[in-house]
Amino acid sequence: MQQQDRRLSQAFPPNSQNNSSYIAEIHSVLASVKIDDIGFKDIKFRNIQTKRDIAQLKQLQQEWFPIDYSEQFYTSLLNGQNSSLIAEIEIKFNTGRKERFIIGAMIYQSRQSKSKYQQTQTWKQWFCSLFQTKNALYIMTIGVINEFRGRGIAEYMVDQLKKRVLESNKTLSYIYLDMVVYNEVAARFYQKNGFNRVRIKKNHYELENQQFDAYVYVWLPN
Ligand SMILES: CC(C)(COP(=O)(O)OP(=O)(O)OC[C@H]1O[C@@H](n2cnc3c(N)ncnc32)[C@H](O)[C@@H]1OP(=O)(O)O)[C@@H](O)C(=O)NCCC(=O)NCCS
Repeated sequence: MQQQDRRLSQAFPPNSQNNSSYIAEIHSVLASVKIDDIGFKDIKFRNIQTKRDIAQLKQLQQEWFPIDYSEQFYTSLLNGQNSSLIAEIEIKFNTGRKERFIIGAMIYQSRQSKSKYQQTQTWKQWFCSLFQTKNALYIMTIGVINEFRGRGIAEYMVDQLKKRVLESNKTLSYIYLDMVVYNEVAARFYQKNGFNRVRIKKNHYELENQQFDAYVYVWLPN
């Protein structure tokens, strides 16, 4: 008999049994408010700034990804080594108390692309390309809580990166990312947002003791 898909996030392996319950506090908080009353204008976008932000992000990433991100991954967000864009909402409790909660997050970094020899290139072309190394933005993770998916939050976050590339006066050349091959929702999302699948990395991920390939997706300005 086929097992029921109980995943909350399609980033987990298709047969995963480890992603069927929420971890972050925001989900129980949302149970006491009318989600439909929260519109896009109520969502604030900013970068990670505090230890409370990090604590929330850690729990959300545990729900979204089958990867344990290191302490260094999180501290790099506070010391500016990696960059972030989060979406947050303010919840007003019956007691009058107000609290802010993260509902989406994108973590990215600036990278200098390595020039790899390609079969179609002559050695001379490859050697010349070493002197034209390009800076790019690499999306490390992106996620939105289930209650707010399909409302354009991830699209808005990716649009902010596209803007940075377009306004960089060509110092940034493109945006790219790796994603696990079975994540069809993410593939649709990136394709819809103008990313192209350019490469496959064999056995790039080891997730829940299984090997999976990765697709590399790239967005280039026109
Ligand atoms: C991928 C993800 C970040 C998209 O976030 P989002 O805010 O819902 O995306 P947007 O609303 O901006 O874009 C919606 C588009 O994405 C795709 N999409 C998003 N959620 C989808 C879903 N549940 N089912 C099908 N398609 C979906 C569709 O193409 C959709 O466009 P459409 O509604 O016009 O058809 C979100 O689904 C998520 O957090 N998934 C779990 C973590 C993950 O897989 N991250 C990507 C790892 S590389």
